[in-house]
Amino acid sequence: MSRPFTVELDLAALRYNVKQIRDIAPQSKILAMVKANAYGHGLISIAKALTDVEGFGVSCSEEALYLRQAGLTQRIVLMEGLFSKDEIPLLTDYALDTVIHDRNQLNLLSEHPLPYPINVWLKINTGMNRLGLSPDDFSAALKQLDRCPWLKITCVMTHFSSADKSQDTTTQCQIKLFEQTIKKYSFPTSLANSAAILAHPKAHADWVRPGLMLYGVSPFSDSSAAQFSLKPVMTLKSEIISIHLLDSGDRVGYGGKWIAPKPLRVGIVAIGYGDGYPHRAESGTPILVNDKLCELIGQVSMDMLAVNLSNQQDAKIGDPVVLWGTGLPIEQVAESTSSFRFELLCGINRGQLVRTRIEEINDAK
Ligand SMILES: Cc1ncc(COP(=O)(O)O)c(C=O)c1O
Repeated sequence: MSRPFTVELDLAALRYNVKQIRDIAPQSKILAMVKANAYGHGLISIAKALTDVEGFGVSCSEEALYLRQAGLTQRIVLMEGLFSKDEIPLLTDYALDTVIHDRNQLNLLSEHPLPYPINVWLKINTGMNRLGLSPDDFSAALKQLDRCPWLKITCVMTHFSSADKSQDTTTQCQIKLFEQTIKKYSFPTSLANSAAILAHPKAHADWVRPGLMLYGVSPFSDSSAAQFSLKPVMTLKSEIISIHLLDSGDRVGYGGKWIAPKPLRVGIVAIGYGDGYPHRAESGTPILVNDKLCELIGQVSMDMLAVNLSNQQDAKIGDPVVLWGTGLPIEQVAESTSSFRFELLCGINRGQLVRTRIEEINDAK
């Protein structure tokens, strides 16, 4: 019998979110960002359900190979490009596209002729200063690529640093610089992450690259996914494994930080920071027990946490607990735990092989 900690995936919701993206950006192809194990959801389950997208963005060749070995035939783009020359043969062996974001990668690929052309996504740094060639280097890079018939430019891309900040003009500046840089050429382009898909239609271009919104999470700190008609894909669940009756003044958990203000029932839930639930979550963080809103109490342990059952008098051992997902938006949990939404999702990666049971619900819907 395994621990009752589960990551439930609503694949119908995933496909519904893809449809929303199509409606918002009807002219664009979708490169679904499945990097970091599909934002913690499970790479293969998610990719297999995404039959209606034109490609996948991954962070490394290992992820790309898992996808190919699982039978996925769509375009796969290595979003950080190659980390070493040993990976070059993989591009042709597994039909992978690669990003070129700096001179080293450009030189590496230029120096290694390939038996047939591969697709290259040339990335320009328009202000995020993470990855990308400088706009001044762009035409020289094109000349270099022109001398390498095995490297075919499939797309020119950039990435926004602040598309989720509605009052910030950085995105407009980035779009302008991008347009100026490429204006003499007619390559397909890609700019938009989730926030830009929703807030900057001008940036939709040929390919959109949704991550967060694909998984039904709002990219904006001041709005919920429901406001954009997005449905959560991941529901993080567990069960009550023990119940205690506390007297007023009794303490709960490591350090006895939480003190019962009155006699009450406390439930112990089989999930903790070892599973990816944030250790920093404080008393008061919302948790659903039997679909009813309750509160975390005391410090989160490695594989357990405590919940106040004051408004759940009938709760018993084995009852279902939702930490986030359907019924309890992750945005609310992120807000009350001062967490980054991406980090909460990706954190679920840890120990997944051993502890997580993926349940694909509503698949037939
Ligand atoms: C290059 C690139 N494009 C798109 C995305 C997707 O971003 P989001 O999850 O905000 O949609 C990411 C995510 O980090 C990224 O690195």
